[in-house]
Order: sequence, then C-alpha cells, then structure tokens
Amino acid sequence: MTDTLAQIAPSILTADFGNLAQQVRDADAGGAGLWHLDVMDGHFVPPLSFGKEVIAAVRAATPRFIEAHLMVAKPGEQFEDMAKAGAQRLVFHYEAAGSLDAARALAQQARDLGCEAGVAINPETPVEALYPLLDALDEVVVMLIRPGWGGQVANLDLLDKVRTLRAHLTAEGRAMAINIDGGVKATNARTCAEAGASILVAGSAVFNATQTPQQALGELLGALRT
Ligand code: DX5
Ligand code: ZN
Repeated sequence: MTDTLAQIAPSILTADFGNLAQQVRDADAGGAGLWHLDVMDGHFVPPLSFGKEVIAAVRAATPRFIEAHLMVAKPGEQFEDMAKAGAQRLVFHYEAAGSLDAARALAQQARDLGCEAGVAINPETPVEALYPLLDALDEVVVMLIRPGWGGQVANLDLLDKVRTLRAHLTAEGRAMAINIDGGVKATNARTCAEAGASILVAGSAVFNATQTPQQALGELLGALRT
C-alpha cells in the first residue's frame, strides 16, 4: 500500500452499537490505523458515552492499537479499568488534571500500568502549556472542537497549535505523536496532516449514513496518500 501522511484513528461515537464488532472489523478492513475510544462521564463534558465494557468489546474485535480518550473529571480513577479492558494508551485532559504536577503524576500512573500516556487540550488551552511535560508523554491530542460531541465542524485555525508543537519537537530533536480530534473529513485531512499531525481521529467521517466504513476510510486515506 502507498504510504500515507498520517494514520486514521476511528472513533465509534456515531457507530451502530448494535453491530459494533462488525463495524470495527469493517473499519479495520478499510485501513484504520488504530482506535480512538471516547469515554465521557457527564461531568467533564455534559454527555455520557461508555466505559470499560465497550472498550473490551472493541478489544475483542480488533488486533489494532487502542487509545482511550478520557473526557472525565477524575481520569486517574478510570485508568486501571481502561488498561484492564485493553486500552494501550490512556489520554487524559490537561484541564481535568488541573496543574502540571498533577498531569505529570497521571502520565506516570498510565506508564506504571504498562500503557502509553497522552494529554488532550481543549481549544482554549495553549499548546505551550504542555512544554514542561513533554518528556512524560507519548502523545498530545489537539482538540479542533469543544469536546463532548461527534459531528462538529473543525476549527482549522487551531492547527496553528499543531504547527507550533511540531516545530518545537523538531527543534528539540523529538518525534512524538500529535493527534488531532474533531471534525476531520476527507476535505481537510491533508491540511491537518501537513500541519504536523501524525494521527487523525475520524468519527462521523467513518461511521455515517451515506458510506460504509470501508468506503469512508478509503476516501480519507486517499486524501492522505503521498
Ligand atoms: C468528541 C470526541 C471526538 C469525536 C470525533 O468529544 O473526542 O473523538 O467523537 O468525532 P467527529 O470526527 O465526528 O468530530
Ligand atoms: Zn476523542
């Protein structure tokens, strides 16, 4: 297969939960690179989504890497359950951690469980806030939307954070995954990757009423081919 500029990480928020394992297998067949599973607690964000049982169901359906994006007020209380359910990277929100020290402790907790550690930042949080923490992280997730809902329109102005972070990492001689989350479509995927993102989360662009997951992934990956 031709190389692509970035991997696509499907999010299942708009998938058919009655047919979840098949939806996951379909997306894998279409070229999903890894899975991005959105856990919401009704506190950090208004909606509830799902927890460890659904992560375990996806784990049983795919051999691919799974990251759990914890949009929850107390992420550390969920880490062990998420790891046991099969998540391999635990992504928490910098805004939920509340301080650099707390964020560093959460990242260490994730690594102590044998997982990778990722931090997500909301649109209003500057990416420079994470610079003192980068050595403790395996991934930064830059939200292009307000977290809590799939199907929103990406604010592409926020890609400047990706450009800034990628330039900073390169200057420091570091390679780290930068993930963008929210509103990725075939029409903007290439712009997102060229800004420096290595992982693009795609929810409604993969699971929607007009295409199969295989067709949708084909279109997204086609937009990213080098
Ligand atoms: C939103 C989630 C996203 C979202 C992506 O709070 O973190 O991962 O589900 O869905 P789309 O691609 O539809 O914006
Ligand atoms: Zn997400």
